[in-house]
Amino acid sequence: MTILREPDYGTPAVSNDKRVKVKIDGIDVEVPAGTSVMRAAAEAGIQVPKLCATDSLNAFGSCRMCLVEIDGKKGTPASCTTPCEQGMVVKTQTPKVERLRRGVMELYISDHPLDCLTCPANGDCELQDMAGVVGLRDVRYGFEGNNHLHEETDSSNPYFSYDSSKCIVCNRCVRACDEIQGTLALTIQGRGFNSRVSAGGTDFMSSECVSCGACVQACPTATLEEKNVIDLGMPTRTVLTTCAYCGVGCSFKAELRGDELVRMVPYKDGGANEGHSCVKGRFAWGYATHPDRKTKPMIRQKITDPWQEVSWEEAINFASTGLKNVQQKYGKQSIGGITSSRCTNEEVFVVQKMIRTAFGNNNVDTCARVCHSPTGYGLKQTFGTSAGTQDFKSVAKADVIMVIGANPFAAHPVFASRMKRRLRQGAQLIVLDPRETETVKNPHVEAKHHLQLLPGTNVAVINALAHVVVTEKLLDEEFVKERCDLEAFEAWKEFIALPENSPEVVETISGVSAEEIRNAARLYATAKNSAIYYGLGVTEHSQGSTMVMGMANLAMATGNIGREGVGVNPLRGQNNVQGSCDMGSFPHEYSGYRHVGDDSVKELFESMWNTPMQSEPGLRIPNMLDAAIAGEFKGIYIQGEDIAQSDPNVKHVKEALASMEMVIVQDLFINETAQFAHVFLPGTSFLEKDGTFTNAERRINRVRPVMASKTGKSEWQATCDLAKAMGYEMDYDNAAQIMDEIAKLTPTFAGVSFALLDEVGSVQWPCNEKAPLGTPIMHVDQFVRGKGNFVETPYVPTEEKTNRKFPLLLTTGRILSQYNVGAQTRRTANVAWYPEDVLEIHEADAQARGIKDDSWVHLQSRVGETVLRAKISDRVPAGVVYTTFHYPVSGANVITTEFSDWATNCPEYKVTAVECRPSLRGPESLLVNSDAMVSK
Ligand code: SF4
Ligand code: SF4
Ligand code: SF4
Ligand code: FES
Repeated sequence: MTILREPDYGTPAVSNDKRVKVKIDGIDVEVPAGTSVMRAAAEAGIQVPKLCATDSLNAFGSCRMCLVEIDGKKGTPASCTTPCEQGMVVKTQTPKVERLRRGVMELYISDHPLDCLTCPANGDCELQDMAGVVGLRDVRYGFEGNNHLHEETDSSNPYFSYDSSKCIVCNRCVRACDEIQGTLALTIQGRGFNSRVSAGGTDFMSSECVSCGACVQACPTATLEEKNVIDLGMPTRTVLTTCAYCGVGCSFKAELRGDELVRMVPYKDGGANEGHSCVKGRFAWGYATHPDRKTKPMIRQKITDPWQEVSWEEAINFASTGLKNVQQKYGKQSIGGITSSRCTNEEVFVVQKMIRTAFGNNNVDTCARVCHSPTGYGLKQTFGTSAGTQDFKSVAKADVIMVIGANPFAAHPVFASRMKRRLRQGAQLIVLDPRETETVKNPHVEAKHHLQLLPGTNVAVINALAHVVVTEKLLDEEFVKERCDLEAFEAWKEFIALPENSPEVVETISGVSAEEIRNAARLYATAKNSAIYYGLGVTEHSQGSTMVMGMANLAMATGNIGREGVGVNPLRGQNNVQGSCDMGSFPHEYSGYRHVGDDSVKELFESMWNTPMQSEPGLRIPNMLDAAIAGEFKGIYIQGEDIAQSDPNVKHVKEALASMEMVIVQDLFINETAQFAHVFLPGTSFLEKDGTFTNAERRINRVRPVMASKTGKSEWQATCDLAKAMGYEMDYDNAAQIMDEIAKLTPTFAGVSFALLDEVGSVQWPCNEKAPLGTPIMHVDQFVRGKGNFVETPYVPTEEKTNRKFPLLLTTGRILSQYNVGAQTRRTANVAWYPEDVLEIHEADAQARGIKDDSWVHLQSRVGETVLRAKISDRVPAGVVYTTFHYPVSGANVITTEFSDWATNCPEYKVTAVECRPSLRGPESLLVNSDAMVSK
């Protein structure tokens, strides 16, 4: 594919049932009322010259390039700011407007460096294009007068630079930062000739800028330009693909020059992101070619031996022999595997198939176990399906947005930008979070209610919110009567009205004032449309599943399900958490969440896969680890998951891994888990994969290979080879065939194929005969399970309690520039923003312990210890400390406990009782992690 330039209609599309007819340059056009003349012309195939207009931003009308003449109207109005009126007759090319445009262009060019031939944007510059379009041949004013040609370039951002000498002050960057990103980092300083773009009076790196790239994307000249384009030159071809970081699932154009990836540009037609991006997807993809990457298979007899590079064949034989030996010695159930939410649906599907067929058991689990497994359980119990209810667009219709245990500003930034847009239009925000995150309060958005609850008290608070709804008669009786199971509802209503669930009692448990709870409940229940968005601050608790059901109860009780602007929506952590769960990665479920004990489903899989299946669920990750320590589980295949760093109680995980006889790790880097491996199979980065990811809105997006696999194989091919070596024939010609098999075996995917995705871009499952183009909003007329099911959700305090020895509660989270355990982002220039994990601690707690800002603190829990740098902060209340887990050197999970969700075993990462004290030495003093030192 050559470089893909999406059409630019100049101004955004207007949604209006009323339509108007106009004639432009003799062509009849009909458009929704309110559409600009410029857009109507573009829809008729007529490009009016423009500089300050672009269809991702509201019209601004500053450059005067788009002047037209309109019959019956005086002067030459700007077509970008003039709406079409019924019967309007417009002329876009008249001697008068042509002359005016040339005059304006002459002024621009007289203050612009004449270095087009050597400019990095040569061939991709709208100013250059427009000079040609208006027919500029001469600049009469000369270049000697006052100008900006010698202004300095701001190169402070690692990924893009700002060359002020090329700026035409069109304001597109400022508007992109305001309207698209919502950070408002840029302004135009000065007036008239002295007007210049300013990042808050400082350089970009020191400003509020979060490096999303929206301004770079909007800039029509080379003023804001990717450094890669400056260094490598303009790209020459495009491959459409999907970001492999978070669960937003942004679509990107990977732009290459020859075989070299030059830049990732967000795709305007991407269903999830509609042309927007964050710093990770836009810029932080360099890890894919980082020198630390391993691209050759390796084996070793003992984990103390050095690695030995071998051929694929030898590695696969070594692995299969090892696994077969283990099974012979310890039985069929003694091996299993873990799938990865970073891999494609096709790769995941093949791994769970290998385990159920070649391994002959159901011992498959996924990293979603440690993040969103309670979502699957809780939403299935209440609504009947294990997925979020809305598409991201839906937030634009929400009047009240309740964010629970999530910080989308940091972890799901492109969704956060959509949310900010809605908040700026007047929607109200309620946040439940122990910490005052950027989502709660930032210079431009502030929550109406911040329910700053103590870690571990989510369920008490959601029950109190529902208690207010029930006792103050704010229920949507009609919705409940029509759509929900009334018996379950009545039982729930009685339970929730109990005094123990009242805000007054819950105040004593959660620390949130009863009045605040009452006001938040009233706001949520009485708005036209209220939507819940939540994250790991909900799921990673001993009552994670209970909380998910509590939110579902609240949404049903208030009728906030089944249309735009409402719903209950998990903000998924990794790119393919939804997909890896959908693909049958859990030990009790086949793809499409069908129980392994269901005979009809079992028969279907047995006939398709031509081998007997087990009816008993297999082992979950924590059970595998416990069984390993007990000497019963001895072999494991781990795809793209670093359990020795990301799972709780790392000491326990390492002990389990060390007691196994055949550990196979497939990954990009030698991670912590690979320290315990006997076989290392090199994995492929998202830039090499062919397949699909499914994002948090159930949207199935294509991932296309941007470059050839650096390992010589796709991951699914390696899995098939291992299955074959174990004795089960498994072959596909390509990833599309795997999707065809998924579609045959999974009712919600029945209509999905690569051909469909290539044609329509993306679809949200269910996609089948009833919904051939997918389902943006779920549970519209009825719940997937028929009637919505209210479930009683009594609050049970976690067993992890503070005491005199461990008086503080530690909770964890993420920051914008880093991602999960940091294996990828630490290998990019993103480290410039966040070079280490820090411990946020309230001033009172710091003072009581003699801890100074920026000094080392020793942090200890019942299970482990670590050292972090202290950051005294009022974002956390006294009694609560907070850190991230992006750097292995600080090993936050060394101290998290083995407590987990009662229903799904999802670890209770968000609540750990700890104590801290000043430390003279840094974390190296305790260092055992090998991935801690990343080559630069
Ligand atoms: S990169 Fe994003 S946040 Fe930074 S100035 Fe540009 S638009 Fe604003
Ligand atoms: S930096 Fe680019 S987008 Fe911003 S005002 Fe200058 S030319 Fe326009
Ligand atoms: S929001 Fe998520 S999917 Fe989108 S670019 Fe950022 S990391 Fe990638
Ligand atoms: S494009 Fe209309 S005034 Fe700039």
